[in-house]
Amino acid sequence: MSYSGGLDTTVAISLLKERLKAEIITVTVDVGQKEDFEKIEETALKVGAIKHYLIDAKNEFLGNYVLPCIKMNCLYEEQYPLGTALARPLIAKKVVEIAKKEGANAIAHGSTSKGNDQVRFDLTIMAEVPDKQIITPVRKWRLTREWELSYAKKKGIPIKNIHASFSIDENLWSRSIEGDVIDDATKKPPESAFEWTVPIDKTPSTPQKIVIEFKEGVPTAIDGEELSLKEIVTNLNKIGGTHGIGRIDMIENRLVGLKSREVYEAPAATILIASHKELEKMVYTPREYRFKRTIDQMWSDLVYQGLWHEPLRKTLQQTGENMNKWVSGAITLELYKGNIIINGRYSKYSLYDEKKADYNKGWYPTEEEAVGFIRIWGFHSLDSYWKRGE
Ligand code: ARG
Repeated sequence: MSYSGGLDTTVAISLLKERLKAEIITVTVDVGQKEDFEKIEETALKVGAIKHYLIDAKNEFLGNYVLPCIKMNCLYEEQYPLGTALARPLIAKKVVEIAKKEGANAIAHGSTSKGNDQVRFDLTIMAEVPDKQIITPVRKWRLTREWELSYAKKKGIPIKNIHASFSIDENLWSRSIEGDVIDDATKKPPESAFEWTVPIDKTPSTPQKIVIEFKEGVPTAIDGEELSLKEIVTNLNKIGGTHGIGRIDMIENRLVGLKSREVYEAPAATILIASHKELEKMVYTPREYRFKRTIDQMWSDLVYQGLWHEPLRKTLQQTGENMNKWVSGAITLELYKGNIIINGRYSKYSLYDEKKADYNKGWYPTEEEAVGFIRIWGFHSLDSYWKRGE
């Protein structure tokens, strides 16, 4: 069973034992969530798991999920950098690996029937092991948070570390916060929902300047210091968080037919995607730039919608990777009061030519060239405008 240590999966261990007489092996996948993994193991075994695995998947998460996400400027509905959506297929894949190794006859996870996560888990498990039974206690027995809390109390299941009100999902890339008072879309989320970011009135009163370097779409350095992707993400989460950057509050079109109010914290993702996109503007032709925006969005939709295994996801990603070979250079920016202010951009592949763009000197088309171009450029439009009269 995929085990997070949260309320749903902890109650699930007990219920699977009680109702299905199952022997449970729990698997916790470390994708960078700030958790006490020893405590998680202790709880799993205490509640009734016969064995527990902790899998460190941080590097795989960064290399095979977060990095493509940066190269594809991954924002679902222009806002959400897909943290949870990216980690699910990886978590499911790791759980499948253990299930195979242990010869388990079913795989369980803690998703509800209302969310996107069930789709991501189920489809990954089906992709890897089509015949394996999938058991989802919360969905199967329609468990509510309230019922789970009282069941846990009755059974003496430790719920100390479980967030009292929100449903939280965290990894290296972002923190998703859902439920409780956040469901009231008319009101500002309470400060208690946030952990990675500071409210604007507590951010520094002077802007902080940073330089981010990219090589072929991969962020490689901050302020001239070469760093690993993990260090870059971790550092930018800290720096961005202190400036209140990356708090996302959105109405999201869920894959399962409803809109939900979602809150995220993702400072590094917000800064990296903004910088990466800015560099793309310098190096792509106008057609490439528009094409890339389109495939970025298609890729993000597929990932959000649990279709990691859809062949088109890979095709789009390969195309994006290919285009990223020109995305090398540096972005200078200021972080200030929740804003990312781009100060400057540089790339050896830049198609921007200051001399050409200058209004005072340098290259000018002749009037003849300009008028000829305009006439032919506008011909289709003007012709139809005159003929149709509208
Ligand atoms: N709405 C987001 C998504 O579908 C976040 C889900 C968060 N999951 C959670 N258990 N809190 O990717």
